[in-house]
Amino acid sequence: MESAKFIEERIKDFKPELAIILGSGLGELADEYCDIAVPYSEIPGFLSSTVKGHKGRLVFAEIEGKKVVMMQGRNHFYEGHSLKEITYPIKVLKQLGVKNIILTNAAGGVNENFKPGDLMIITDHINFMGQNPLTGANDETMGERFPDMTEVYKTKLVELAKSCAKGLGIEIQQGVYLANSGPSYETPAEIRMARMFGADAVGMSTVPEAIVANYCGMNVMGISCISNAASTAGGEKLSHEEVIETTNKAKVKFKKLILEIIKNI
Ligand code: HPA
Repeated sequence: MESAKFIEERIKDFKPELAIILGSGLGELADEYCDIAVPYSEIPGFLSSTVKGHKGRLVFAEIEGKKVVMMQGRNHFYEGHSLKEITYPIKVLKQLGVKNIILTNAAGGVNENFKPGDLMIITDHINFMGQNPLTGANDETMGERFPDMTEVYKTKLVELAKSCAKGLGIEIQQGVYLANSGPSYETPAEIRMARMFGADAVGMSTVPEAIVANYCGMNVMGISCISNAASTAGGEKLSHEEVIETTNKAKVKFKKLILEIIKNI
């Protein structure tokens, strides 16, 4: 409540309906569309962002006639924060009146048909982080103790994203995102396991945020930018630089898709 009140004082009568969390290399949208920016470091209760390639601020902008709040940069579990800490902003966004949330990330491609630079609509997830952000006492005013998880990534939003991509002539993939805690990338054996489990992409974010957003009644859409083929025995070595480089190449396509989704959501 204190965090939301602080933000409301900064944004006055701007009432965001849609939130977008911008993942690695995808933060530029918030540089181009920025009416009001509030650094995380100034918001009571927020952690500051520390990862290279991630800024740390909330950016408010009217885009395509919609009131949007963007998280330019996010905190990760692998930085040493708890899942509760990294998902705190989601609850604050809910408090600000956000109904729909688009979670974006860079992810490794597990599905062998995926190419680096592809965009994947997330249809479902596997939480392999070993923890859940909702453990501990439950605040009944936010959501239920045992939230249903049958349709976290709303089918109508998956369909919307697909039809927007089609309209723009952007090739789009869809699939299941598996979240590991990181920070180490996966071994080839772990990728074979992820594939057997039915995952199409792997990453180190998004799932805790999706769990909390779903819990507090938001409609979730997820989009991964496939930044690399996940590790295989005898394959190329993987670096964070490669992840950033590929997402940078895909960002024009990504931005176009996001703008089209904002227009039609
Ligand atoms: N694994 C985990 N996280 C990632 C990857 C990956 O291959 N690429 C980008 N984020």
